[in-house]
Amino acid sequence: MKIIKVTSPQDGSRYAYRLLTEAIDNGAKVLGLATGSTPLGLYRLMCEDKRDYRSLISVNLDEYVGIQPDNPQSYHYFMRTHLFSAKPFKQTYIPDGTNPNAAAATKQYDQILAANPIDLQILGIGQNGHIGFNEPGTAFDSKTHRVRLTESTIAANSRFFSDQSAVPRYAYTMGLGSIMQAKQIILLAFGKAKAAAIHQMTQGKVTPAVPASLLQKHQNATVIVDKEAGSQLA
Ligand code: GLP
Repeated sequence: MKIIKVTSPQDGSRYAYRLLTEAIDNGAKVLGLATGSTPLGLYRLMCEDKRDYRSLISVNLDEYVGIQPDNPQSYHYFMRTHLFSAKPFKQTYIPDGTNPNAAAATKQYDQILAANPIDLQILGIGQNGHIGFNEPGTAFDSKTHRVRLTESTIAANSRFFSDQSAVPRYAYTMGLGSIMQAKQIILLAFGKAKAAAIHQMTQGKVTPAVPASLLQKHQNATVIVDKEAGSQLA
């Protein structure tokens, strides 16, 4: 795992953008994309550039269950607003949060992943070390599954909702096993709230208690941290 320390989130986004465009120039066709505030700078750079993304496919990590794609809190809406409306892709996939049948929804997504192996996966990280919505305790070989969000994730994500009770309790997420299949991974973390998670994932032991620690076993993972997120690193 390569750790890149940058001075600011802007520099981190620029660094990630450079890696992403290099990967595309080297033939990457399927991008694994993430939501959250962290990748916004990267998506902004993608929106502003002159590149055409219409030959690429995107596969998103996760979606809340029980939320419509036109709901502004949905990850469908997020991706449309921050990337896809400015930069159309050939095809975009996001788990179907409107399907209450978890077995069917997750199986369908695994088929999509099998047909579209991810060349480059973009990740953020939760304060408890989650990636996608793979909360602590998730099996390392997990595929797409339905998760009950932890109270800390509900609290962290409530800033986007009217109040904490409005945050969905369940989500569909790509599994840790699926994320590890990506040929290349870039994880971004900015801000003090991520410092403990970054320390544990990069310098602690590989354990399901810190889902992101599994990335220590990936062959081509780059972790980009700003000063604050990297402040607990030795
Ligand atoms: C959510 C998403 C994750 C994201 C995390 C951190 O839980 N499912 O993919 O990494 O939030 O979000 P932020 O980047 O806003 O801190």
